[in-house]
Amino acid sequence: MSPVVFVTRPIPDNGVRLLVDAFGEENVVVSKNDCPISREDLLAGVVGKDALLPILTDTIDAAVMDAAGPSLKVIANYAVGYNNIDVDAATERGIAVTNTPGVLTDTTADLAWSLLMTAGRRIGESERYLRAGRWQSWGPQLMLGTDIHGKTLGIFGMGRIGQAMARRAQGFGMRVIYTDANRLDALSEKALQATKVDIRTLLSESDFISIHCPLLPETTYAFGAEEFRAMKPTACLINTSRGPVVDEAALANALRTGEIFAAGLDVYEEEPAIHPGLMACENAVLVPHIGSATVETRGKMSEMAAANIVAVIKGETPPNCVNPEVLG
Ligand code: DGY
Repeated sequence: MSPVVFVTRPIPDNGVRLLVDAFGEENVVVSKNDCPISREDLLAGVVGKDALLPILTDTIDAAVMDAAGPSLKVIANYAVGYNNIDVDAATERGIAVTNTPGVLTDTTADLAWSLLMTAGRRIGESERYLRAGRWQSWGPQLMLGTDIHGKTLGIFGMGRIGQAMARRAQGFGMRVIYTDANRLDALSEKALQATKVDIRTLLSESDFISIHCPLLPETTYAFGAEEFRAMKPTACLINTSRGPVVDEAALANALRTGEIFAAGLDVYEEEPAIHPGLMACENAVLVPHIGSATVETRGKMSEMAAANIVAVIKGETPPNCVNPEVLG
């Protein structure tokens, strides 16, 4: 019997074509609705499948794996982050979990950089002001933001995307400091002109802090009231990683009271809900989790997720497995 794949939401065509070429049209089931799949439909859709291609809003826990049954060999997440998947439960069941790293690095860094500039230069607020018909004249003190060039960028999590931010910072003549569990090798530090510091130094010396860590127990609420108090009142916080790294209530308070200057957010604690306190802040730039949202990159993610599935089903090593211990 040919393996059957279940894709939980329509994704760019190229990945689906790869799956169809490998397994036949009748064996690639793509959920028809372009909205998050309901738990009920997910549990029903996965039954008897050999491969599951979920998106980051799908919770893939032990119950989903058990609903699939023993045929399930691979869960190929359509994202680099895989906090929506219970990897331990997958490993216990011998199921490979794969993700899509690399292809979205620069696209996500581009978005983080846009948020940094938008927050620092008050672009969202300025546009709302103009469109509301409130602009009367050029003003010496109108919409004063903060310079970006020559400032200090603090990077929280110096993985692929953090390093891509450091490269962008070079073009703006910025000083780059970072925190991470691991130190970059000396050559990379030199090339990126980046210095590893402790968290206190990152908080107190950065003009912009950009978050690029995975969501882990130890990074949950890494930024809360205490951290905002330790930041400069002129500083901006950027988050394109995962929402729960930041305590949104504390951030809303810090923005409202002027403890920090501005924030640029792509991700939220309870997506798609946004903390009402943030919605009320003119100095919060809020976009709907679009870090990897370009035609090119979403196409590459589609191809990569499909390639991961094809490899596992063929008994080959998939390009991006996060629990390689399950591979034979
Ligand atoms: C990811 O891949 O983890 C991103 O959040 C998608 O934009």
